[in-house]
Amino acid sequence: MSKKEQSDRVRNCLKLLGKEGLPRHIAIIMDGNGRWAQQRKKPRVFGHRAGVESVRELVRASGEMGIEVLTLFAFSSENWRRPEKEVSLLMELFLMALEKEVRKLNTNNVQLRIIGDVADFPEKIRIRIAEAESLTLNNTGLVLNIAANYGGKWDICQAVRQLATRVKQGELEPDEITEEKIAERLKLHDLPEPDLFIRTGGEQRISNFLVWQLAYTELFFTPVLWPDFNRDEFEKALISFSHRQRRFGQTGKQVEQRRNA
Ligand code: IPE
Ligand code: IPE
Ligand code: MG
Repeated sequence: MSKKEQSDRVRNCLKLLGKEGLPRHIAIIMDGNGRWAQQRKKPRVFGHRAGVESVRELVRASGEMGIEVLTLFAFSSENWRRPEKEVSLLMELFLMALEKEVRKLNTNNVQLRIIGDVADFPEKIRIRIAEAESLTLNNTGLVLNIAANYGGKWDICQAVRQLATRVKQGELEPDEITEEKIAERLKLHDLPEPDLFIRTGGEQRISNFLVWQLAYTELFFTPVLWPDFNRDEFEKALISFSHRQRRFGQTGKQVEQRRNA
């Protein structure tokens, strides 16, 4: 696609959705790499490599459309249970992506953050993560969160542990623990909560992703395998989102009235 075709396409999509119809924050479980490779009689890592290309395309499209935050599940706290060989290949791929992509992300004004228990990663990766985060810290474009060794339950647990320490030190009473106090200590606390959740690969589950933050997120599941998730598929998810009425406990009529006020 030429540059001109691409920008026409973005413009058309935005016209269709309207600025209000666009999610501010999209969270994605990028699933189906292994099956994509198996269908081609290739080793699973072949699918993980192909998946990196889908990430590039998605980050580009999101930036062009003015999405504010993208959170991608790259490696869950449960993925350590996979065969050792696959885990180490995934680590290698992660390291390579950090080395190869970060400069370009920085040029494109993307702020990169890694969320998860990074202490479990090899030192080489931890150093790269710290470098990438500090390089892109002051960028003002898309915020790209990569969830690596992340688990939603871990996230809540580390927040609660911080509060428990304050209680022990006598700085906080147990009945002063509110939803807000927990939320303030979660990994994405300074960003808007996800408006749209996408899971590729056909499974319809959360798999310990952002369990707290997804409480009121619109869910979109597609059978498309992650390496096949392209702009067309992304636009389908955005269009589906633009047709949802987000009621947050209110009635449809109340929402209409608020919109027309
Ligand atoms: C998602 O694809 C990528 C990671 C979990 C790292 P999978 O590797 O889970 O692919 P399937 O689900 O086996 O097809
Ligand atoms: C979820 O995918 C984690 C990532 C995409 C990184 P999985 O493929 O590991 O999820 P389950 O175990 O099938 O639910
Ligand atoms: Mg999977």
